[in-house]
Amino acid sequence: MNILFAASEAVPYAASGGLADVIGSLPKSIAEKGHSCAVVIPLYKAISEEMRSEMEFITNITVDVSWRKQYCGIFKAKKDGILYYFIDNEYYFYRDGLYGFYDDCERFVFFGRAVLEMLRHIAFKPDIISCNDWQTALIPVYFQVYYKYRQGYDKLKTAFTIHNIEYQGRYGREVLNELMGIPPYNSGLLEYDGYINMLKGAIETADRIITVSPSYARELLDPWYAHGLDRILVTKQHKLNGIINGIDTGIYDSKTDKLIACNYTNEDISGKSECKKFLLTELGLTVDNEPLIGIVTRFVKHKGIDLIRCVFEQIVNSGMKFAILGSGERIYEEFFIEMSRRYPDKVSVSTKFDSELARRIYAGADMFLMPSQSEPCGLAQMIAMRYGTVPIVRETGGLKDTVRDNGGVNGNGFTFKTFNADDMLDAICRAKSDYDKSERWESLVKRAMSCDYSWSASAKTYIELFEDMLSE
Ligand code: GLC
Repeated sequence: MNILFAASEAVPYAASGGLADVIGSLPKSIAEKGHSCAVVIPLYKAISEEMRSEMEFITNITVDVSWRKQYCGIFKAKKDGILYYFIDNEYYFYRDGLYGFYDDCERFVFFGRAVLEMLRHIAFKPDIISCNDWQTALIPVYFQVYYKYRQGYDKLKTAFTIHNIEYQGRYGREVLNELMGIPPYNSGLLEYDGYINMLKGAIETADRIITVSPSYARELLDPWYAHGLDRILVTKQHKLNGIINGIDTGIYDSKTDKLIACNYTNEDISGKSECKKFLLTELGLTVDNEPLIGIVTRFVKHKGIDLIRCVFEQIVNSGMKFAILGSGERIYEEFFIEMSRRYPDKVSVSTKFDSELARRIYAGADMFLMPSQSEPCGLAQMIAMRYGTVPIVRETGGLKDTVRDNGGVNGNGFTFKTFNADDMLDAICRAKSDYDKSERWESLVKRAMSCDYSWSASAKTYIELFEDMLSE
């Protein structure tokens, strides 16, 4: 099979979140199992000169954005056995930052259309286009409206993966004609609750809808989680699948990671305490035996930061420390900065993007806190476990599917059900009480480290799903 992954970001070229990690690792795993994979992303300004110098220019074409005819350059590069295609248009993509511009709708209308147009000009001939999140949601819509019956496109199938339903690409009705160039008789594909909703269009038209964990697939049918899209998803349940993400276990490996202070394995975890000492010193916190809780996240509401705020001082005063790395909404940033001023020996917060510090927190912390209100999959809890850092999570989405409470048999972390600060505090206290029993803690750490978070099993499930699509 030939599979083309279309996305708005991919490691190592451009990244702002977990989506980039998935696009940077899933295709490799599928390719290892004998299929050909390619990736297409926009050629952003953020892509370095060095990376650009490894690219080859293929051609330039013209792409329709409603009545406009826009320039589109196509470049390619090969990395780790995967072909990467880049869509170039400096007006749309040569800007500081990936998204958040007034014309994001137009930028990704262009990108979606360009991906489909590109297929006639490249050597890679996909059987399946796997689209990801709202930025690529118009691909299955355009495919259905304009390409399905064109020569060369007729056997193509489309899958659409939802990495987070909160971001939908929702705009006023005027974009339909003004930017998308979708005829009025097809407007029903995109209309939802009085808006034009790109995610709804993909849910309507893709051959399969995938989301990044089985629990999140179930949650999406529930209004509390679905941000309004439950009504359409309920009617499309027959094509909805939940497949848990993996992580790149080659990169995240406590045995070989060059970015951490000391390497260790799950047979001998002694190096982990060196990592903790190094981290505490680096962050200016007191070096002692108190448990250290790591948090690496975006400071946004659905990450459950409000729960942390409610009981933060109680946790610190009960003899625990915090290493926090993240940025986002100001109200949360200011709260954590205030806490680090109030407890300078116990609380550290860094609000810069720093992937190397993130790695030292994954390795150096004892526990990793993720009390998310919703979490489609979550990669950080799996990365933390790879480094023997015990996750404390709310039972939602992928957190529920990857973390089992240590109160039962063979747990690998601590969990709580209700989105409530006291329930979270209870899980943290249980973690602390196990931490104080060093043998029990050590076997928990080793159990967390030995779980399989690689893509292997999920890549197989993706392949089966894609094969199933092609057999129809
Ligand atoms: C989004 C989700 C996160 C998921 C990631 C990759 O960032 O919020 O839960 O792990 O996408 O699928």
